[in-house]
Amino acid sequence: MSNIVIVGTQWGDEGKGKIVDLLAEFADIVVRFQGGNNAGHTMVVNGEQIISHLIPSGILQKKTCLIGNGMVVDPGVLKEEADYLISKGVPVGPDNLRISERTHLIMPYHKQIDLAREKMKGDKKIGTTGRGIGPAYEDKATRRGVRFVDLLEPNTFSEKVRTLSDEKNFYLSHYLSSETVDADQIIDEYAKYAERFAPHVTNVSVAIAQAIRDGKQVLFEGAQGTHLDIDHGTYPFVTSSSTVAGNACCGAGVGPKDITGVIGIVKAYTTRVGAGPFPAELFDQVGDTIQKKGAEFGATTGRRRRCGWLDTVMLRNSARLNGITGLAITKLDVLGGLESLNICTAYQYEGETLNDFPASLNVLSRCEPVSETLPGWAEDISGMRRTADFPENTRNYLRRIEELVGIPIQIVSVGPAREETIVLNNPFS
Ligand code: GDP
Ligand code: IMO
Ligand code: MG
Repeated sequence: MSNIVIVGTQWGDEGKGKIVDLLAEFADIVVRFQGGNNAGHTMVVNGEQIISHLIPSGILQKKTCLIGNGMVVDPGVLKEEADYLISKGVPVGPDNLRISERTHLIMPYHKQIDLAREKMKGDKKIGTTGRGIGPAYEDKATRRGVRFVDLLEPNTFSEKVRTLSDEKNFYLSHYLSSETVDADQIIDEYAKYAERFAPHVTNVSVAIAQAIRDGKQVLFEGAQGTHLDIDHGTYPFVTSSSTVAGNACCGAGVGPKDITGVIGIVKAYTTRVGAGPFPAELFDQVGDTIQKKGAEFGATTGRRRRCGWLDTVMLRNSARLNGITGLAITKLDVLGGLESLNICTAYQYEGETLNDFPASLNVLSRCEPVSETLPGWAEDISGMRRTADFPENTRNYLRRIEELVGIPIQIVSVGPAREETIVLNNPFS
């Protein structure tokens, strides 16, 4: 039996949603273990595109989907997403969507604080998604968070919201010069979410343990990417959760020995949304071409994604931090038509070669990529279903990635649709 974790190896938007949707066919349960609706995971099935922000990307494969304790959930967004899927004929009910009683809620004041702080920072802003993610995790860490279990206890919930709203309103009005929130309005609004989601709330850790005992297979769906991790990413230009594979255990409530493999999703080039250093970033025509051909716009905020060459310093960092056992290369089709391709293999900093990702942003922002250049290919590979059919230069590009990262490629994606994929070695087999 296999239990596989999927993580992004770069700065998010690697194509995790597509690969989770694909592999969910072989799993019984799909669980998200961190992040919230800052994520935007795209699936393309039967010509239709569906973007999930909170509900695990196993929902279209009609698998049991679990929202782990490590997530932060905006219940209004969850309701909208569930209703949207239902309107598309995808069943979403207490039988197939379970929410951990320990999952923290995103509250209206979290969103307001997130937006007002970013506004106040001006050009020093992080470029958050504005969904209240940071302030929600902050309250979790300072033990002032509100959890689904509280939502189901109306008196506890009202008391918490009143006390917290007082404090947040002081901060919002006096420090952030922002509008305040109305505690009564929040209590009324969230009472409706309590009614809607009460039947979904459960002990997710117990549910997973039971499933594993019954011989079922679990797919853990990471959000964001390794370099947006709160500890290991380009701090402070990161998200507020731990995005690495180890957090699948903490954020879902399982022990490390239950994880049998970790698939690192690698976009065939690099993108980043929001601010922060990006050594292999392209500012020229090639970057523009990749951005356009790859339709690199954020699935959550619609922002243009910054584009650059593949960076194997980042990928080696990810391989180590996540214990990656196999790679899934996505968007390889986008690179077709480029005369040559660069791969960043190390960084140059003040005459020194760095092979590992530096912690200091002052250092990172002054790193120059050390690159090697490989010949490109002109062919459109999106219709190909065997790597043997790929042009030789495409195969060489893949082989070089494996050599530089030291991890085998198990999946190659050549288009957004589920079937535009080549599975070389199924992690569930
Ligand atoms: P995620 O956040 O990691 O799930 O990735 P996103 O959904 O935010 O962004 C990935 C984008 O690339 C989506 O629009 C996908 O439909 C698209 N995509 C995924 N794999 C491929 C691929 O192999 N080729 C192309 N052209 N597009 C892809
Ligand atoms: P998926 O799961 C890309 C980025 C934001 C910002 C930083 C902090 O779709 O790959 P936050 O709102 O989390 O406090 O923003 O993190 N970010 C993402 N970038 N993909 C994501 O998710 C992201 N989630 C957050 O752009 O730079
Ligand atoms: Mg995304």
